[in-house]
Amino acid sequence: MTAQLIDGNAVARTIRAEVAERTAALKARGVTPGLAVILVGEDPASQVYVGKKVEACQQAGMHSVLERYEATMTEADLLERVRALNADPAIHGILVQLPLPKHIDADKVIETIAAEKDVDGFHVASAGALMTGLPGFWSCTPYGCIKLLESTGVPIKGKHAVVIGRSNNVGKPMALMLLAKNATVTVCHSATADLAHHVRQADIVVAAVGRRNTVTADMVKPGAIVIDVGMNRNDEGKLCGDVDFATVKEVAGWITPVPGGVGPMTVTMLLVNTVESAERVAA
Ligand code: GUN
Repeated sequence: MTAQLIDGNAVARTIRAEVAERTAALKARGVTPGLAVILVGEDPASQVYVGKKVEACQQAGMHSVLERYEATMTEADLLERVRALNADPAIHGILVQLPLPKHIDADKVIETIAAEKDVDGFHVASAGALMTGLPGFWSCTPYGCIKLLESTGVPIKGKHAVVIGRSNNVGKPMALMLLAKNATVTVCHSATADLAHHVRQADIVVAAVGRRNTVTADMVKPGAIVIDVGMNRNDEGKLCGDVDFATVKEVAGWITPVPGGVGPMTVTMLLVNTVESAERVAA
């Protein structure tokens, strides 16, 4: 069996076109959705990510500001900038790019962002809203995985989903989102005794570990949907995920490639959250 490919670029394009329409409708009512991105320091990967975020906003017709600061910026100064953006009516979403320099307490910074502008979905109020089913922003990478799952047309409801990884940004929110979509959810992690045993039961596998070849073909139930959140490098320096794509694609029913699967969805869901935030203000 050869799996059908879940094309993250195609799903992202469709959703971004919807975001552009919603943005145009808001602008016609005098509200331009605005995202503020703060980058502290010179981390090369972060520079690439924030560039993509700002560019995607512009392509969707949104207003975006990128604030860059030296790595020596004090925590107090950063908190002051966040508070100013909280009070700025032209800004509907605030994102502080992580990682932050070591002398700055990232948790404190995230908790200072107004929950109603937390389009990253990292604030404890956003996490709590996801857990309880209250309105709030879902964090972008796992939310993107939900959209990829939905793009297959296979219902999530009633399926057994196995999430591998328990990070605050992906594994844990992923499990809660799948639960919200009425899947039966198992969460596996580094202390799981027999990973293969659990993954073999899965109709849906989400791998978010950060280690290549974590999921191999012998672990996958024929026909399962496999979502690969991993971003690793193989021995040749080529980008690869947590799933052994070449062999798993022969067993799975659906599979995301790396690159071109989950990757394009993170920025896309950031746009969705930002336009949604502006719609709430405009309502
Ligand atoms: N660093 C890597 N990914 C992300 C993300 O999605 N949001 C933020 N704020 N920082 C990141």
